[in-house]
Amino acid sequence: MTRAAAILRERLGALVPRVALVLGSGLSGLVEHLDKPVRVPYAELPGFPRSGVSGHKGELVAGIFEGEPIIMLAGRAHYYEHGDAAAMRPALECLQEAGVTTLILTNAAGSLKAEMPPGSVMLITDHINFSGTNPLIGEQTDRRFVGMSEAYDRGLRAGLQEAARKAGEVLHEGVYMWFSGPSFETPAEIRAARMIGADAVGMSTVPEVILARFLGLKVAGCSVITNLGAGMAAGELSHEETKDMAPVGGERLARILRQFFAEGLEHV
Ligand code: HPA
Repeated sequence: MTRAAAILRERLGALVPRVALVLGSGLSGLVEHLDKPVRVPYAELPGFPRSGVSGHKGELVAGIFEGEPIIMLAGRAHYYEHGDAAAMRPALECLQEAGVTTLILTNAAGSLKAEMPPGSVMLITDHINFSGTNPLIGEQTDRRFVGMSEAYDRGLRAGLQEAARKAGEVLHEGVYMWFSGPSFETPAEIRAARMIGADAVGMSTVPEVILARFLGLKVAGCSVITNLGAGMAAGELSHEETKDMAPVGGERLARILRQFFAEGLEHV
């Protein structure tokens, strides 16, 4: 067991969560919904990222969420911070060694569909990685040839849709395309992304999904839409807009996730 996993296990005591939730921009408030929270700063977990993006913290918080044990990760490493697509690998390995079998990823994203405006939430059904990089480059074993045909687990998706329905929220579905960032896309890139089948664009999640599948974790992903893609609306995109808008869809996603956990994790 890695040192990080040993430290985490010791800090969690009798709590053995099967599910971990990565909180993207606008969702870090979800940790306040945890009963009996155990807070572990990333700095205490060897290999965890030192996140430097405003709007992102660096803390693992475990506890009981709507009656079920969970680990929440407030803060993630992005490829654009250092050019390392595998920056989240030690953290995900630690979760897996500590007993996590399901990973739910959330992010802020730009929408490529006018009918999915800012404030919407999109369940990721598949992704496009045309970034030219992959977090498993350099992995030496044949395990690196990870199948990605069913990367986003059907059962989890069905469960999240059911939870959305019960919560009275619309959960759009679509394909998430990863752009490295940190610059936003150009209008031409957005038009190209639409043409090849993307519904939303963002700067995270895809490397984590690849790593999670490599580690044998079940995966689900949800995007909080903060803006329309570049060129689809007047004005320039900005990180301020992402941060300002993320809580709107974030509230909606929080309600869906609370309902999902309140149902008792039969889909996990
Ligand atoms: N592009 C990339 N990442 C994003 C966007 C976007 O338009 N909005 C929020 N994250």
